[in-house]
Amino acid sequence: MTTPARLRIGNFEPAAPVVLAPMAGVTNAPFRTMCRRFAPGLVYVNEMVMATAVVHGNAKTERMMTFTADERPRSLQVYGSDPVMLGEAIRKLCAEDRVDHVDMNFGCPAAKVTRKGGGAAVPAKPNLLRAILRSAVAAATPYGVPVTIKFRKGLYDDLLTHLTTGRIAAEEGVAAIALHARTAEQHYAGDADWRAIAELKQAVPEIPVLGNGDIWEAADAVRMMRETGCDGVVVGRGCLGRPWLFRDLADALSGRPVQPAPLLGEACAVMADHARLLADHLGENLALRDFRKHASWYLTGYPVGGETRRRFAMVSTLAELDDLIAAVDPATTLVPGGERIHRGHTNGPIRVALPDGYLTHLDDLEIPDDAAEMAVSGG
Ligand SMILES: Cc1cc2nc3c(=O)[nH]c(=O)nc-3n(C[C@H](O)[C@H](O)[C@H](O)COP(=O)(O)O)c2cc1C
Repeated sequence: MTTPARLRIGNFEPAAPVVLAPMAGVTNAPFRTMCRRFAPGLVYVNEMVMATAVVHGNAKTERMMTFTADERPRSLQVYGSDPVMLGEAIRKLCAEDRVDHVDMNFGCPAAKVTRKGGGAAVPAKPNLLRAILRSAVAAATPYGVPVTIKFRKGLYDDLLTHLTTGRIAAEEGVAAIALHARTAEQHYAGDADWRAIAELKQAVPEIPVLGNGDIWEAADAVRMMRETGCDGVVVGRGCLGRPWLFRDLADALSGRPVQPAPLLGEACAVMADHARLLADHLGENLALRDFRKHASWYLTGYPVGGETRRRFAMVSTLAELDDLIAAVDPATTLVPGGERIHRGHTNGPIRVALPDGYLTHLDDLEIPDDAAEMAVSGG
């Protein structure tokens, strides 16, 4: 196989052209540490933080912005649609040397965001998008911090904006662009449309184009790069409960053989380590509540039975988790196709919520009010 051209984001050249997708409530420091153990040297993006919260400061956002001492690049996704607020947030992050890379989210389909004209609604307004990107790039550039953006194909099938978004991003000095190849209306339903990734690569040849959507196994990434000509892949749900996917991706994209899926005992050992890191990060009580979703993802595809699954989904302490793990058969193998069982978000389509009359004046520069959007999750 041919070795793909190397991906660069700013000065950073990852060991393989692979990026962990930002996932709210998931891609915190413990999760990224687990992934990095399997594949150091890739780009692992932190969960999204709100620009307003960065500027005004609050304890929760501070904790969300934690990077471990050895983590490079420190990649953070910032959400905002007010050019001034966003510029201020990025300038602060850079001046305080908190980040090495800023990603921005223009794909969030959550109703409370798009209803105000933010998230996935922004790319429908090219002038607004341009103003936001100009402000973000101007804030980050003096510090040598690259800005990347992540977006969807558009709001609906008859309002596709990915090509104009990509062109504007390249013109405004964005370092790389990532396309989640679904519309906001599709949400997470149906297959991602990889042809749109190929189109985007053709339309924006001058900066790296990253493809996102439906990479469940390493072979999918190889196929996406071959079929679309994209410069790298962004991986979300496929790594939930499977941090070793990054090792598999790095292996496959470097032409090395991919290791077989772990036995349940091996998956559970990783699960136990992950839970301990999360307990150090959040405190055991909060961590174990949050860990329940991870526990169910780690078990996905292993035939452990409904009762065991239910017990893991109610785990409250590390000791209890250890007892549950001790009771499973470590030699259990993943069912064929277990990697492809969807996890995380699967629903859709949705009705996209927009401000009244939003689509009548697409050239305007009206700034969405995102001051109240302190707790959104999604892309
Ligand atoms: C739980 C969850 C949270 C997400 N949060 C964000 C987010 O904060 N920002 C973002 O840009 N995308 C977010 N996404 C979307 C993913 O980054 C990614 O674009 C999407 O899952 C499609 O990729 P996949 O098929 O590899 O999962 C989220 C997805 C999931 C499943």
